[in-house]
Amino acid sequence: MSKSKVLLVSMVVVAALVVSASVSMASPIVIKFSHVVAENTPKGQMANKFKQLVDERLGGKVLVEVFPNSQLFGDKKVLEAMLLGDVQMAAPSLSKFKKYTKSLQIFDLPFLFKDMKAVEKFQKGPVGQKLLMATKKKGLIGLGYLHNGLKQLSSNEPLRVPADAKGKKFRIMSSDVLAAQFEAVGALPLKKPFSEVFTLLQTNAIDGQENTWSNIYSKKFYEVQPFITESNHGVLDYLVVTSAEFWMGLDEGIRAKLKTALDEAIAFGNKVAAEKAISDRQKIIDSGRSKVLQLTDAERQQWVNVMKPVWKKFEDQIGKDYIEAAVKSN
Ligand code: SIN
Repeated sequence: MSKSKVLLVSMVVVAALVVSASVSMASPIVIKFSHVVAENTPKGQMANKFKQLVDERLGGKVLVEVFPNSQLFGDKKVLEAMLLGDVQMAAPSLSKFKKYTKSLQIFDLPFLFKDMKAVEKFQKGPVGQKLLMATKKKGLIGLGYLHNGLKQLSSNEPLRVPADAKGKKFRIMSSDVLAAQFEAVGALPLKKPFSEVFTLLQTNAIDGQENTWSNIYSKKFYEVQPFITESNHGVLDYLVVTSAEFWMGLDEGIRAKLKTALDEAIAFGNKVAAEKAISDRQKIIDSGRSKVLQLTDAERQQWVNVMKPVWKKFEDQIGKDYIEAAVKSN
């Protein structure tokens, strides 16, 4: 090769290296992680932990930006935004996937799981693992489950037996199973975004709602709800979700590191969930703002008798075998 050709080739190589170095330095992959709860919750802590681990392990290559408190998107919009590429990760409640799959409705069936150990066992088992991919056909991939915990019923009047809820308005997440659950006791369910619940309660536009101890505490629902029935009647857990297009488009090595970081963040978030189910409940009791009511076995049985027939209504949509697998995890 002539001297001038060698010079030209070297210049081209150097230019290409400079361009590629500056591109990779200047443009890390950005993961916007949008959620609706406060930072001092299992999901808030999990998302922050994920960011911290990614900063430590993939700093410069991947940047995680966490948007809590519905700052970026509420749960209604976030999955649509994900499919459009406007957000890369979220962890909506399992009750909010109705548009994408009917199978995840299983988690809303009242009195299905005895405790969080049973929920964990089911999620880790073959059906739970299969359900992670229930939304794949619609372009969304479940990367893992995250716990929040069992739900309690809060209200402006004491709820001891189903008849106490008759005619009352309850805010619910966007789930037909939850609507059927409240209709079963003669109550009026209203599907409303999480960001509106406090104001709806404060202004008496609704009478009550169902949620976990950590959500009731962190969003101050207990300050505007004088009674909380410790019903443990259902579970509120999350699916950490991403778009298939984004996830499969990542470099394999980066994807593997992100998944490891996420698994560790979820394990951390699950620990926070277990702790908060105890500590936030106690903080609410200590505040004296809301009276926590315990049900007798006979009172609880009345709720079970009235709500459990909802299972049958959704059996075809969810799959009888899936429900049986969940029951077996108890
Ligand atoms: C959440 O925990 O993400 C919100 C739950 C709700 O909408 O009640």
